[in-house]
Amino acid sequence: MSALARDALAAPLPARTVAVAHGDGIGPEIMAAALRVLSAADPALTFHEVSLGLKAYQAGHAAGFDGDALEAIATHGVLLKAPLTTPQGGGFKSVNVSLRKTLGLFANVRPCVAYHPALPAPHPGMDLVVVRENEEDTYAGIEHRQTDEVVQCLKLVTRPGCERIVRHAFEYAVANGRRKVTCMTKDNIMKLTDGLFHAVFEEIAPQYPGIATEHMIIDIGTARVATRPRDFDVIVTPNLYGDILSDVAAEVAGSIGLAPSANIGYGAAMFEAVHGSAPDIAGQDIANPSGLLLSAVMMLVHLGRGEPATRIHNAWLRTLEDGVLTGDVAAAGNVRRVGTQAFADAVVERLGQAPVRLRAVHYPGRTEARTDSPVRQLTQLATPPAHKQLEGVDVFLHWDAPGRSPAALGERLQPLAAPDFSLELITNRGVKVYPQGNARTLCSDHWRCRFRAPAGVSPLAVAALLQRAAEAGLDVIKTENLYRFDGKPGYSQAQGA
Ligand code: NAI
Repeated sequence: MSALARDALAAPLPARTVAVAHGDGIGPEIMAAALRVLSAADPALTFHEVSLGLKAYQAGHAAGFDGDALEAIATHGVLLKAPLTTPQGGGFKSVNVSLRKTLGLFANVRPCVAYHPALPAPHPGMDLVVVRENEEDTYAGIEHRQTDEVVQCLKLVTRPGCERIVRHAFEYAVANGRRKVTCMTKDNIMKLTDGLFHAVFEEIAPQYPGIATEHMIIDIGTARVATRPRDFDVIVTPNLYGDILSDVAAEVAGSIGLAPSANIGYGAAMFEAVHGSAPDIAGQDIANPSGLLLSAVMMLVHLGRGEPATRIHNAWLRTLEDGVLTGDVAAAGNVRRVGTQAFADAVVERLGQAPVRLRAVHYPGRTEARTDSPVRQLTQLATPPAHKQLEGVDVFLHWDAPGRSPAALGERLQPLAAPDFSLELITNRGVKVYPQGNARTLCSDHWRCRFRAPAGVSPLAVAALLQRAAEAGLDVIKTENLYRFDGKPGYSQAQGA
C-alpha cells in the first residue's frame, strides 16, 4: 500500500490547538486561506487567535504584543504567524525580534526550493535548507559609542549557543533524510568567535556518521550558493551570515514569495512566511498564500502530524503543477491565474493527490508532538571549566591629542605600566601603531593599549593600573582582560604585531 493510501486510512489525529496571529496588510487574507486548507486536511486542529503587530502597538505595547498573547503562545507551544507591519520610527520594536528573544527561538530554519518546471527557476533541482543561529552574534544588540569617532557592536558567541544550533542542524538533517551539513563561518579572520562555531561543528559532526560534512568560508560559500546551489543540502551558520545567506538562497531558488520559515526554541516555535505584509496589495485577494501555507506544513511536521503535512504539501505541489497560480508567480502560458482564496480552494480540491513531475514529499506519519527543539536533552556544556590565568589587560582609550602620534601616547603610557605590567603594544583599529608602527596607518581617536604580565597578575593590579591612568588624565573607555585558558591565549593577536 502506498504511503499516501496508508495515511488516508489512518485513525483521526488527536485534538490540538495552535496560536495564530492574523497579521497586518495581506496577513488576514493569506491566513484565512491557509487556515481553510489546514482545517480541511487536519480537522482536529483548532486555532487560538492572538493579537500581534499594529493592533498591539496602537494599544501601547512597544514590543508589538501583550501578556495575553505571550501566555497563549507559551500555552500552545506553537504560533502560526502572518506577516506584521512594523511602524517606522516612534520607538517600536520589531515583533519578530521581540518574540524571538522572549521565547528563546534560537534556530531559524528556511528551506529554499526551486519548483521547476512548474515555476521558472534559474537552478532547477535546487533544494537546500539554511539553519541560522537566531539569538547571538552581532544580533545580541550590544552596541556602544565609545569616542567621538568610534562605535562598536559586540559579537557574542557562546559554546552552548553553538552546540544547540549545530545539533539542531544535524537533527534536522537526520529527521528530513538530508545527506550533508555544510558549516559556513569566517574563522580565518574571527578566530575566536567564528572559530568556536566551527570547532563545535567539528566536535559534533562525528556523532552523526550518516551525514557528510564540510566547512566553507562564508564569502565563497555564499558565492557558491548563488552559482551552484545544487551542491548544498543543509547549511548551518551564525546569525548575521545566515540572515544574508537565507535571502540569497531564497532569491536564487526563484521563489522568495513562496519561502516558509520556522523559528524553533526550547519552549515554543513560530512558523511564518519569509515575505512581509505587502501593504501595496492588501485587501485585493491577489496575495499568494503559499509561503504561509508551507510554514503551516512545517508546523504540522513539528507537531508530529506528518499525515496532513504530507497531504497539504503534495496537494500544493500538484496545484502548481496544474498551472493554478496567483498573479505574482503566473507567467504567460498555459496557466490559470487565480486569487488568494481560489488558490486555497484549488489546494483543498487536490488533497490526497500527489504531483507527477515535481518530487512528492512524504513526512513520517505520527511522531512525538513537540513544543520544543529536539536538541534540548542533548545539549550540555561539553567541557569542564578551564584553568584561567590573568596575564594582562587591553586598556581602550579615547585620546585625541594634536597629531595623534602613537609614539607620544606610548611615551605617556610607559611610566604607568610599572610595577605590575609592561606596555607591549598599541593598536588603532586593530593595526599595530606602537612600537614601530607604519606612519601611513590611519589613526582614529580610539586606541587599544596592551599591558602584559606574562607570569600572571592579580585583578587588583588592573584596578591600580586604571587608577594610575585616570590620575594621569587619560580617558579609559573600556578594558578587556587578557586570560590564558588551560595555557592557551584567550585573545587575538594584534595585526602587524
Ligand atoms: P514585502 O515582502 O511585504 O513586499 C515586497 C514585495 O513583494 C511587494 O511588492 C509585495 O506586494 C510583494 N509580496 C510580498 N508578499 C507577497 C505575497 N504573498 N503575494 C504576492 N506578492 C507579495 O516587503 P516590504 O514591502 O519590504 O515590507 C512591508 C511590511 O512588511 C513592512 O512593514 C515590513 O516591516 C513588514 N515585514 C514583516 C515581516 C514579518 O512579519 N515576518 C517580514 C518582512 C517585512
